[in-house]
Formats: sequence, C-alpha cells, structure tokens
Amino acid sequence: MPKWLDNAIFYEIYPQSFRDTNADGIGDFPGILEKLDYIRDLGCNALWINPCFASPFGDAGYDVSDYYRAAPRYGTNEDLKRIFDEAHRRDIRVLLDLVPGHTALDHPWFKASMLAEKNPYTDRYIWTDNIWERPDGLDCLRGISDRDGACAVNFFSHQPALNYGCYKVEKSWQQPMDAPGPRATLEAMKDVMRFWLRLGCDGFRVDMAGCMVKNDPERRGTILLWQEVRAFLDREFPEAAIISEWGEPDKSLEGGFHMDFLLHGGPSHYDDLFRCEEPFFSGRGRGDASKFAAQYEKYMEQTGGKGLICIPSGNHDTERLAPALQGGELKLAFAFLLTMPGAPFIYYGDEIGMRYVEGLTSVEGGYHRTGARTPMQWDGSINAGFSAAAPDRLYIPLDGDPDRPNVQAQMADLGSLYHEIKRLIAVRQAHEALQSGGGIRFVFAQENRCPLAYIRTGGGESLLVILNPSLEMVSFPGAFAPSGSVYCFGGEAKFNPGLVTAPPCSAGIYRL
Ligand code: NOJ
Ligand code: CA
Repeated sequence: MPKWLDNAIFYEIYPQSFRDTNADGIGDFPGILEKLDYIRDLGCNALWINPCFASPFGDAGYDVSDYYRAAPRYGTNEDLKRIFDEAHRRDIRVLLDLVPGHTALDHPWFKASMLAEKNPYTDRYIWTDNIWERPDGLDCLRGISDRDGACAVNFFSHQPALNYGCYKVEKSWQQPMDAPGPRATLEAMKDVMRFWLRLGCDGFRVDMAGCMVKNDPERRGTILLWQEVRAFLDREFPEAAIISEWGEPDKSLEGGFHMDFLLHGGPSHYDDLFRCEEPFFSGRGRGDASKFAAQYEKYMEQTGGKGLICIPSGNHDTERLAPALQGGELKLAFAFLLTMPGAPFIYYGDEIGMRYVEGLTSVEGGYHRTGARTPMQWDGSINAGFSAAAPDRLYIPLDGDPDRPNVQAQMADLGSLYHEIKRLIAVRQAHEALQSGGGIRFVFAQENRCPLAYIRTGGGESLLVILNPSLEMVSFPGAFAPSGSVYCFGGEAKFNPGLVTAPPCSAGIYRL
C-alpha cells in the first residue's frame, strides 16, 4: 500500500467545469494549474481528474478515442505533465481516470474491429458470430459494420465493450480470459497505464472496474484480472494507487485495488445518509444511519485492512449534497466524511455547498447528471469567475440562483462551510486516529435515531466522534469520560454517568 494514502484527502476535478483560462467556455489544464494553490490551501493533497483524453465527448470523455493523447480542448500532454510536476511540488498526488472497459466508436481499434477481414483488432471487442445473435445479458450494437456479428456495449450504445474474455465460456463466440484477444486487450491497457505513470501521474480511478470480464456473475474473473494488474503495478510502479468504481469493497479490494468507492445506488446504504427522502444528515432527524453502519462494519471485517473504503461527498454522476442539505446539515455531513476511515473525496464545489441545478438540458451525455456538473463558482464576477466567455457559451450554464455560493465570499466568512471543512481537514491531519487506516467502532447507530457516534483509534489515541444532525437535543447510553475535545461545532456534548447528551445540530470529537 503506498504510504501517501495514509493521510490522503482527494479533490475531484471535472475539468470541463473547473476553470476556463482561454475564454472558450470550457475548463482547461491551465485552469487546473492556476487553482492548485487553492486546493492545497483547502488542505487536499490528492486529485482525481475526470477523463481528459481525446474523445468525441458523447459521455463527457468516458468514451476515449485515443488513450495516449490529452483532449485538445483541455491542452496538451505537456500541459498535463506540468500539472503532475506542479502538483508534486505542492505535495499533491494526481490520479487520472482510466476507462478500460470500453472506447468510443471512433477509436482506431474499433474501426479495425468492424472490418470483415480478420486483423489484429478483430478480437479487441466482444462480437457474436452473426448479426442475428445478441450477446446474452449485454446490450449491443448491430448493423453498423461489414463484419457479421453484434458487438457488446458497456454503458451507452456508443461505448463498445473491450474484450477481456468471459469467465464462463458457454457460447461459440465467448472467449476465455486467456485467449489471445483478451490477453492482448489487457496488455494494451497496461501499456496505457505505463505511459501516464511514466509521465508522472500517481495512479488511476478506474471506471466500471467491476464489469471487465463478462459472464462472470460472482466477479471471480474480474478479481483475477485486477490481481494481475496490481502485481504489475507493484513490480513497476509501487507508489502508484488505484481506486475502483465498484462499490463492493469485499470484491474490489480482494482484486488488489488499494481503494474502492461506496457508490450511490449501491448496496452500502450510502444513499441513506445523504440522498433519499429522509437523509440521516437532514435536520428533520428522521433519517437512519443504522443500516449504513452495519454494512460498513461488515465490509471492514470482510476486507480486514486490505485496502481503503472511500466515501465521496458526491461525484459527477449523482446529485450534489445541496440543496437537499443546507447550512449546518452540510457541515455535519462533512464532519462525518472527514472523520471516517478510508481516503475522503471532495467533489469540486461541494466545499462551498454548490447546488445541484434542476432542469438543465443534457450536455455531452450528462442527462440528469448535468445539474451536478455546472461551472465552479469562484467569485462574484461575470460567470462566477469560471470563464471570460459570453455566458451563453459556457459548457453548462451556471447555477442561476442569485444567492449561489462562491469561493471568494466563503473565504471571507469564517462561519462558512469552506472554513468548517478547512478546520475539519486540519483536525484530521493532526490525528492519525482519524486518518485512512485508523480503526472504527460504532457506539451508537440505531434505527431512525440520532446521533451517530463512533470511536476512531490509531497512533496511540482513541477519539469519540458524535454527530447529531437533528434540531433536537439527543441522548444515548454510554459511559465515557473524555479528557477534552479536539473539534466542536454547535456546542459540546455532556457526559453524565451512563448517558451522553449532544446539542442540536452539533458535531464533536472527544479524546478518550
Ligand atoms: C461511470 C462514470 O462515472 C460515468 O460518468 C460514465 O458515464 C460511466 N461510468 C460509463 O463510462
Ligand atoms: Ca478553455
């Protein structure tokens, strides 16, 4: 496990919406460079940059047409290298987004694979033997090539699935994982990883990591495949880190990922906390963190410290925390995110409570996700300081709310979410117990009750975290006699014999 993950705090950058420096309405690499000091100052020491490779942008870059070339609209490979170098000068690591599962239709591999004549790319994708036969359990493309056959797709119908083989081979067109086609695909993807790691990136967030091998219901084949990738990294790039978009840490960490994300819509009950009708972090106090805590403990037990379970504040695929959560609710949500094990991930703009914007027309395959991808709000100037382009030329329109938050205003206000997050990050970095590898034990996580309380351990210290998002004072049984607090928001808890009482909308971290 690379040592730098111990205290890593990530910031996710959606490059097209972060900062535009040449007034074309789209964010770019120089914009990221310009803001590295901002990210460092917030306290983050690692980045995940969404796909920034050549692409027709039918799915915001998750449809790659050249894995070796930066998308010209963002800049050049040299610009990207400059980001790696400048980030490293500031002790910031950089993960790129690897999309190994599928390409764009206009990737040269796919063009060759569509040809009727056999060639080195014939088996780079998954084709059935004839146009009338669909690949079982998968969507497919049909009738677009001289080649006879239907081609499996992974996500949108313009994202043909790369061929890593099938775990169970049951049909004549299915190939085993060790057939020459699947082997060549995996070697090609290792070369892509080598290329960017040699240029200076520190690893990858891996798109749809759990779906690589097909006809693999238990994911045994996919786990084997990633174990091989991890062995390759350990050999050639031992400092590199990989994090999976998988959402099942029991499988992904076995596959050798250093980290896995808990995902919206996944089995982790992540949504119960932030994104459901009655989220736990709502001040209404009607939410339920108990199922989340039970599942989390189960994952910790199953994975036994093998890697990190990471809880993102949000990402480019899901609605933002705000406006469903607001004010103190957001602060409490971050008190949670920044005191849990695993490396925290802050989605750009969540640190100032940027809002999910309803009703936007889809941009580049965003659909309902478009509202979570609006331009970063830096200040009160034109286009919120994102771009000097005419407002109607912005990649996605800005949040039109006249009260939209911005960085400059929040920096000037010590009571802002921005400053609360900065404080929380500083506390996390001062206590090993709160960092990635520290232990956790939930002491109060009961059905439909507040607060949520847990003990973090590490570095010879035990810290009790108590989070009460509800607007009521709440109590829970517990015999604690803390020696003091290391963080407090909304008032300190009272520790009476056998009973702990937490004030409304409060978060505290107490030294045991
Ligand atoms: C997950 C990515 O996060 C999402 O944005 C993308 O559309 C799909 N994978 C397909 O690559
Ligand atoms: Ca630009």
